[in-house]
Amino acid sequence: MREPATPPLLRVQGASVEYKRGDRTVVQAVNDVSFELRPGEIVGIVGESGCGKSTLAKGIMGLAPLSAGSVEFDGTPVGRLGRRKRDERLLPVQMIFQDSAAALNPRRTIGAQISEVIASRVKHRGEQGVNVVNEIADLLRRVGLPPAAAMKYSHEFSGGQKQRIALARALASKPRVLVADEPISALDASAQAYAAKLLVEVCRAEGIALLFISHDLAVVRAITERVIVMYLGRVFESGPTRGVWAEPKHPYAQALINAIPVPDGSGRRPETLVGEVPDPSNAPAGCVFHPRCPVRFAGCDTEEPVLIQLGGSRAAACRLLEAPAGPPLAAVTSDS
Ligand SMILES: Nc1ncnc2c1ncn2[C@@H]1O[C@H](COP(=O)(O)OP(=O)(O)OP(=O)(O)O)[C@@H](O)[C@H]1O
Ligand code: SF4
Ligand SMILES: [Mg+2]
Repeated sequence: MREPATPPLLRVQGASVEYKRGDRTVVQAVNDVSFELRPGEIVGIVGESGCGKSTLAKGIMGLAPLSAGSVEFDGTPVGRLGRRKRDERLLPVQMIFQDSAAALNPRRTIGAQISEVIASRVKHRGEQGVNVVNEIADLLRRVGLPPAAAMKYSHEFSGGQKQRIALARALASKPRVLVADEPISALDASAQAYAAKLLVEVCRAEGIALLFISHDLAVVRAITERVIVMYLGRVFESGPTRGVWAEPKHPYAQALINAIPVPDGSGRRPETLVGEVPDPSNAPAGCVFHPRCPVRFAGCDTEEPVLIQLGGSRAAACRLLEAPAGPPLAAVTSDS
């Protein structure tokens, strides 16, 4: 008999997020995204700037209202936060982001800021006998800082150290899911590898599911088990990272992966991705990637592809996977 699959901790179903610009145009920043995150899984979200990664993260956290679909953590719907205090049942879903370090309060010690989070958790869970001082010291140690850091203020730390403090503060709520939006991109190149490794080690050690959002494909490849490739708010491809890297099915995923500089010291990019991500308020008809797609064919400018399940937990949304390709459309050029 087959073992039943572990139930998902986070379930995102058909999630869409719209923004309204000052001129009343509607920006469909996230469009019908679905995926699940299981306990302890490390999943990457990649895509060029503007493809909706941060908006999806905000939708998951209840920081941006969903215009359609749903997000559930452990069976609890994550609703829009608005002015309401965040539902305490959602304390185990925490976010760290590029500016987490900047969000530290410069007028309070690091220890005071972490203790606030511990106090909130203790109250919510009705925990007894928690030694806050010891716990702060332990949290700081887990992120590679001495316990004495608790007595200091954020300006006394480097960017990398501040990001570790932000991680310690997130860990204080004993998260089961961490949504990390570009958590290392504000750091120096030398601090990035350490920060990514630490994040993964902490999540592995504690069985925390990690959603790692980044435009740094090399890091995503190194640390994630599963990857979701987004474009203009949509999922274009998803699957085990290793399989997607070895044989990306979607032309966009192929182009992104081929655009990673070759690590041979030449700095050479094997292929370039032509053009820019279009404005989501004015998305191209048909397949939204067709103006840039090197293998587009008849109908790609009118028919929208659906996400097709390909087996082996893989999925991709390209008409090439639906039916044999028809005649090619005009070749893609840098100004198409
Ligand atoms: N508050 C907002 N109002 C209107 N449009 C917005 C708002 N925030 C984001 N957008 C638009 O939504 C789209 C998705 O933006 P988002 O920040 O989610 O992308 P991203 O993938 O995180 O990009 P990056 O890699 O640069 O962080 C973009 O076109 C962006 O201009
Ligand atoms: S549907 Fe057409 S345009 Fe879109 S990625 Fe596939 S081949 Fe390219
Ligand atoms: Mg972003």
